[in-house]
Amino acid sequence: MRISTNKVQEFEKDHLARVRKYAPESMVLLKNDQVLPFGKFKTVALYGNGARETIKGGTGSGDVNVRHFTTIEEAFQNAGYTVTSKKWLNEYSKFKQRYVQDFYYKLKEENKDTGVPTALAMMGKTPLEPDYDINIDSSSKADVAVYVLARNSGEGTDRRNELGDIKLTNTEEKDIITLAKNYKNFVLILNTGGLVDISGVKDKVPAILLLSQLGSATGEAAVDVLTGKSYPSGKLTMTWAGMNEYPSTQNFGNKNDTQYKEGIYVGYRYFDSVNMPVLYEFGYGESYTTFQINVENVSLYKTNVKVAVNVKNTGKFNGKEVVQAYISKPQGKLDQPYQDLVGYQKTNELAPGESTKVYINFNFSDLASFEEDSAQEILEAGEYLLRIGNSSRNTITAAKFELDQNVVTKVSKKLIDLPTFKDFAPNVISFNKDNGSKKIKSIKVHANDFKKIVSFFDNGPVVDENSNDDISWQDVVSGKSSIEDFVATLTTEDLADLAVGNYADSGNVMEVIGNASTTVAGAAGETTHRLSKKIPILVMADGPAGLRLSTEYVLNDNGTISSVTAALSGGEKSQAANNATIYYQYATAIPIGTAIAQSWDVNIAKAYGDIVGAEMEIFDVDLWLAPALNIQRSPLDGRNFEYYSEDPLISGLTAAGITNGVQMHSGKTTTIKHYLANNQETNRYFSNSELSERALRDIYARGFEIAVDKSHPLALMTSYNLINGLHSSESKLLIQNLLRDEYGFGGLVMSDWFDTGGMGLTGDKYTSATVTGNVIAGNDMTMPGLPDNVKELIQSIKTGRLKKSDLQRNAVHILNVILKLKK
Ligand code: BGC
Repeated sequence: MRISTNKVQEFEKDHLARVRKYAPESMVLLKNDQVLPFGKFKTVALYGNGARETIKGGTGSGDVNVRHFTTIEEAFQNAGYTVTSKKWLNEYSKFKQRYVQDFYYKLKEENKDTGVPTALAMMGKTPLEPDYDINIDSSSKADVAVYVLARNSGEGTDRRNELGDIKLTNTEEKDIITLAKNYKNFVLILNTGGLVDISGVKDKVPAILLLSQLGSATGEAAVDVLTGKSYPSGKLTMTWAGMNEYPSTQNFGNKNDTQYKEGIYVGYRYFDSVNMPVLYEFGYGESYTTFQINVENVSLYKTNVKVAVNVKNTGKFNGKEVVQAYISKPQGKLDQPYQDLVGYQKTNELAPGESTKVYINFNFSDLASFEEDSAQEILEAGEYLLRIGNSSRNTITAAKFELDQNVVTKVSKKLIDLPTFKDFAPNVISFNKDNGSKKIKSIKVHANDFKKIVSFFDNGPVVDENSNDDISWQDVVSGKSSIEDFVATLTTEDLADLAVGNYADSGNVMEVIGNASTTVAGAAGETTHRLSKKIPILVMADGPAGLRLSTEYVLNDNGTISSVTAALSGGEKSQAANNATIYYQYATAIPIGTAIAQSWDVNIAKAYGDIVGAEMEIFDVDLWLAPALNIQRSPLDGRNFEYYSEDPLISGLTAAGITNGVQMHSGKTTTIKHYLANNQETNRYFSNSELSERALRDIYARGFEIAVDKSHPLALMTSYNLINGLHSSESKLLIQNLLRDEYGFGGLVMSDWFDTGGMGLTGDKYTSATVTGNVIAGNDMTMPGLPDNVKELIQSIKTGRLKKSDLQRNAVHILNVILKLKK
C-alpha cells in the first residue's frame, strides 16, 4: 500500500500504544530502596546524557526510521511534570552537539586517504562519552531527581572497556553520587542496550532502573513506570559483571582469529560454575512488590517433565513474576556447568494478595549434550537436580531425577574441524549440592523411555532435467506442476540470476548498502527481477527493532522509487520532479532485541512480531531480516542490543515467539540471522571464530534449532565470519547437514550483505566468501548481489567447479518459499 498523506495513520497510533503498554515488561529494576514508584510529585530535576538525547535503539541496519520519538524529557512534560533542570539540559546539549560534530569531522579527515569508503569507516562508530564541567546547580530543586545514563552502539564496531562506554566517566560518576546525596527521591536510569559497569555507584544510589532502549515508546514508558502508572517486570538475560571477569574478555575482538576458549561456559554457565560474585546475576530483576514462589508438584511422564508452581503477590503493588527452572546435570564423561536454564514462565498480572499457578514443561532429551568423540548427543546416567526460583542465584532445589543409564538421544556426524585449543573446564568435581534440602522428591528416569534420532544426511532436492519444457509459474501455483519440474525449465543463466539478489547493474555498492530494493523505499534487498515475468519477487527489509524503511519517497515514471532528496536535487532519477507526490512510510520502532528477551515472555515477543507483521502487510515487505539471535558471548559485541541473551534457550524461544507473531500475517515471514557464531564486529567480514563443536552445537546453534522447531521461519541469513577457517556461508555441513537435515529447516538460506566482497575491503589473513562456495554449500541467495556474482557462477559452471544441479537445488528452495508467500 502506498500512503500519500503525511497524516498520522490509525495503525501508527495503535502500534505506539501497544509498544507503550508492553514496554515495562522489558525494564529491569536493578535496585529499589523504597523510592519507586515516586508517588505524587510535580517537579523533576532531570540530568544525564539520555535525558534529552534519549536512545530508542542502536545504530546500523538495526535502527528504525520513525516519524517521531518522545524523549524522556518530553515525556515528563507531556505528562504534566515541570522539568526544573532546563539550564543544565541546554548547556549539556550545546556542549554535546559540538563534541559529536568534532568527533565525526575528525573521523572523516582521518579516513580520507585510507581508500576505505567513508560510510564503512564510520559504521557503528560512536564517540566515548566525554567529561565536562556543567554545574548540577541547586536552583533546579525538585520533588524528585532522575539521571539518565545512555550508551549507544551498532553494527560495524565493538564496544570498548573504557571510560565513557562500558565504564562511567568521572563526570557521570560524580554527578550521580551528588544527586543521590542531594535528593531522597533519586533514580538512576540506564538507557543502554547492554552492560555498563555501575560498580562505582551501585551502592551509593537508592534506585536503579535498566530502562533499556524500547523503541518508539521509550520516553512515555519510562515515565509510566517511574510514576507508578505501570511497573517493571523484566529480568536480565545476560549476567552483569566486571568486564575483566567474563571468560571471553581475554579472547575477544581479535582481528583474524578469536578463540572461544571458554567453550560452553558462557555467561552464568561460567560465573555459577566457578562461583564468582557478579554485579547482577542472570535472570535477576526486582519488582515494585514481592512474591512467594512455591513448587507444588514435579511430575514426569516418560521423558516429559511438568513443574507446577504457585506464585503469590505478597506485597502492595501489582506485578508479574518470572519463574525460572534450572537443571544441574551429573559430571560424567562430559564436564557440565553448575546449571542450565531449562524452562521459564511469566505470571499474569497479580494484584496484592493474589495467587496464580504456572506450569513449566520441558523434555529430558532437550538436556542432552554433544559428545565430540562419537558425534552423538548424550545424557549421562546419574542425578539431575531441578532448581526453581526467580533468578539463576535465587533458587531452591525442587526435585531430583535419577537417570538409570546413559542415553544417546541423537546420532550425528562431525561438522567442523577441531580448534587448536582444548575448551576450558571448571576445576570442580561435583557441585551438585541440593541446597541442604534432603526431603526433595526423587524421580526415576528410565533410559528405555528415550527415542534415539539417527540423523539422515541429504543433498537436498533433485531436479529431473528431462521434464516438460512448457511449464508456467501458474501451473506451479495451481498444483498442476511441481516446483522441481518448473526449475528444470530454467536455463543456467536464469538459475545464476536467481542465486543472487536483485543486484544493481552499475555495481555501485555504496549506493545500495542496506537500501537495495527498487520497489519498497529503504528496504534492504529483493530477489531477482530478471525473471519477474516468470516468477514473483520477494522484498526484504531490515530489523530487528521494527521495519527499517525510508520515511519518504517518490515514484518514478517507470514504477521504481527514488528517495525524496534524489528526486528534488534533480539528480539522476529526477523524472519525479519537484511537484511529484511524496509517499510516506512511518514504521513503528519496537524495543531492541535484548529488551524483548528481557520480558521473559514468548507472548510479548509474539505481540511485537504481530506489530511488525501488520506493517509488513501495509508496506509490502515479504521477508523481515530479523530476528537476530547470536549469543551474547561478551558485553563488548557492538550488536548485542540486537541479540537476545547469553543463553540459547531464551534466545531460541524469543526468536520463535517473534516469528510466530509475524507469521500470523499470511505471506509474511522472518529471516533468522546471523548463522553462526557471529559474536563480534571487529573485522567482521574476515574474522574467524575458532570454537569446539560442542560449544557450537550446545550454545551457538541451539537457539537456531529451537527457533526452527517452534516457529518454522522461512528464511535464514548466514554470517560474515568464518568458523574454524571456513566462512559459515560456505559450509555445506552447517547449512545442509545441521540446519536442514538435523534441525529440519525448510526455507531459503541467504548470505549476509556483500559477503563476497565488492566494498573495497580486503582481509588480512582470510579472504571474502565466494558466490560459488555459497552456492555449493546450499546458500541459496547471495545478497544483495553483484553483477560479478552472476558472471562468476556462469564461469564456474563452464569450468566444472559448480554443477547445474547445485543451482537447481537452491532454486527449488527459493521457489518453495516464493510459492508459500505469494500464492
Ligand atoms: C547486516 C545484516 C543486515 C544486512 C542488510 C548487513 O550489514 O549484517 O544484519 O540484515 O546488512 O541491511
